[in-house]
Amino acid sequence: MATITYIEHDGTKHVVEVKNGLTVMEGARDNGVPGIEADCGGACACSTCHVYIAPEWADRLPAKDAMEEDMLDFAWQPDPARSRLTCQIKVTEELNGLVVNMPERQI
Ligand code: FES
Repeated sequence: MATITYIEHDGTKHVVEVKNGLTVMEGARDNGVPGIEADCGGACACSTCHVYIAPEWADRLPAKDAMEEDMLDFAWQPDPARSRLTCQIKVTEELNGLVVNMPERQI
Protein backbone atom coordinates (compact mmCIF):
# COMPACT_ATOMS: atom_id res chain seq x y z
CA MET A 1 0.00 0.00 0.00
CA ALA A 2 1.25 3.46 -0.86
CA THR A 3 -0.18 6.90 -0.26
CA ILE A 4 -0.11 8.80 -3.52
CA THR A 5 -0.94 12.47 -3.99
CA TYR A 6 -2.44 13.39 -7.35
CA ILE A 7 -2.51 17.14 -7.99
CA GLU A 8 -4.82 18.48 -10.68
CA HIS A 9 -3.63 21.31 -12.91
CA ASP A 10 -5.68 23.79 -10.85
CA GLY A 11 -3.92 22.67 -7.66
CA THR A 12 -6.69 20.44 -6.30
CA LYS A 13 -5.07 17.59 -4.38
CA HIS A 14 -6.30 14.03 -4.10
CA VAL A 15 -4.52 11.89 -1.52
CA VAL A 16 -5.37 8.21 -1.92
CA GLU A 17 -4.17 4.83 -0.71
CA VAL A 18 -3.25 2.53 -3.57
CA LYS A 19 -2.69 -1.20 -3.22
CA ASN A 20 0.59 -2.76 -4.22
CA GLY A 21 0.45 -4.29 -7.67
CA LEU A 22 -1.95 -1.76 -9.11
CA THR A 23 -0.57 0.95 -11.36
CA VAL A 24 -0.53 4.63 -10.51
CA MET A 25 -3.14 5.05 -13.26
CA GLU A 26 -5.41 2.42 -11.69
CA GLY A 27 -5.06 4.17 -8.33
CA ALA A 28 -6.47 7.35 -9.87
CA ARG A 29 -9.18 5.58 -11.85
CA ASP A 30 -10.39 3.46 -8.94
CA ASN A 31 -10.59 6.47 -6.65
CA GLY A 32 -12.35 8.80 -9.06
CA VAL A 33 -9.40 11.14 -9.43
CA PRO A 34 -10.01 13.33 -12.50
CA GLY A 35 -7.34 14.29 -15.00
CA ILE A 36 -6.02 10.85 -15.91
CA GLU A 37 -8.14 9.56 -18.75
CA ALA A 38 -6.38 6.29 -19.59
CA ASP A 39 -8.25 5.79 -22.85
CA CYS A 40 -6.40 2.59 -23.77
CA GLY A 41 -6.98 0.99 -20.36
CA GLY A 42 -3.32 0.71 -19.51
CA ALA A 43 -1.88 -0.79 -22.69
CA CYS A 44 0.69 2.00 -23.19
CA ALA A 45 -1.06 2.94 -26.40
CA CYS A 46 -2.69 6.34 -25.80
CA SER A 47 -0.61 8.65 -23.55
CA THR A 48 -3.72 10.01 -21.81
CA CYS A 49 -2.47 8.83 -18.42
CA HIS A 50 0.41 11.30 -18.57
CA VAL A 51 1.62 13.08 -15.42
CA TYR A 52 4.60 15.10 -14.28
CA ILE A 53 6.36 13.38 -11.41
CA ALA A 54 7.29 15.68 -8.51
CA PRO A 55 10.98 16.62 -8.93
CA GLU A 56 12.07 14.87 -5.73
CA TRP A 57 10.56 11.63 -7.03
CA ALA A 58 11.63 11.75 -10.66
CA ASP A 59 14.82 9.73 -10.10
CA ARG A 60 13.31 7.32 -7.60
CA LEU A 61 10.96 5.52 -9.96
CA PRO A 62 11.88 2.52 -12.11
CA ALA A 63 13.20 3.68 -15.48
CA LYS A 64 10.95 4.11 -18.51
CA ASP A 65 11.09 1.38 -21.11
CA ALA A 66 11.31 2.11 -24.84
CA MET A 67 7.57 1.78 -25.38
CA GLU A 68 6.75 4.35 -22.70
CA GLU A 69 9.43 6.70 -24.08
CA ASP A 70 7.91 6.46 -27.55
CA MET A 71 4.34 6.96 -26.37
CA LEU A 72 5.31 10.01 -24.29
CA ASP A 73 6.12 11.78 -27.56
CA PHE A 74 2.35 11.93 -28.10
CA ALA A 75 1.55 13.32 -24.66
CA TRP A 76 0.46 16.91 -24.02
CA GLN A 77 3.59 19.04 -23.43
CA PRO A 78 5.89 16.28 -22.18
CA ASP A 79 8.84 17.15 -19.97
CA PRO A 80 11.73 14.73 -20.61
CA ALA A 81 12.85 14.91 -16.99
CA ARG A 82 9.49 14.46 -15.27
CA SER A 83 6.88 13.05 -17.63
CA ARG A 84 5.66 9.50 -17.10
CA LEU A 85 2.74 7.37 -18.17
CA THR A 86 1.02 6.29 -14.98
CA CYS A 87 -0.17 3.00 -16.45
CA GLN A 88 3.46 1.94 -16.63
CA ILE A 89 4.28 2.55 -12.97
CA LYS A 90 3.50 -0.32 -10.60
CA VAL A 91 2.72 0.62 -7.03
CA THR A 92 5.01 -0.78 -4.32
CA GLU A 93 5.81 0.21 -0.75
CA GLU A 94 8.72 2.21 -2.15
CA LEU A 95 6.26 4.57 -3.81
CA ASN A 96 4.69 5.59 -0.50
CA GLY A 97 4.48 9.40 -0.55
CA LEU A 98 4.68 9.74 -4.34
CA VAL A 99 3.39 13.04 -5.71
CA VAL A 100 2.28 13.45 -9.32
CA ASN A 101 1.00 16.53 -11.12
CA MET A 102 -1.54 16.31 -13.88
CA PRO A 103 -0.92 18.25 -17.11
CA GLU A 104 -3.27 21.03 -18.16
CA ARG A 105 -4.95 18.53 -20.44
CA GLN A 106 -4.50 15.10 -21.91
CA ILE A 107 -4.33 14.94 -25.71
S1 FES B 1 -3.56 4.31 -20.21
FE1 FES B 1 -3.07 4.51 -22.30
S2 FES B 1 -0.93 4.87 -22.26
FE2 FES B 1 -1.45 4.69 -20.17
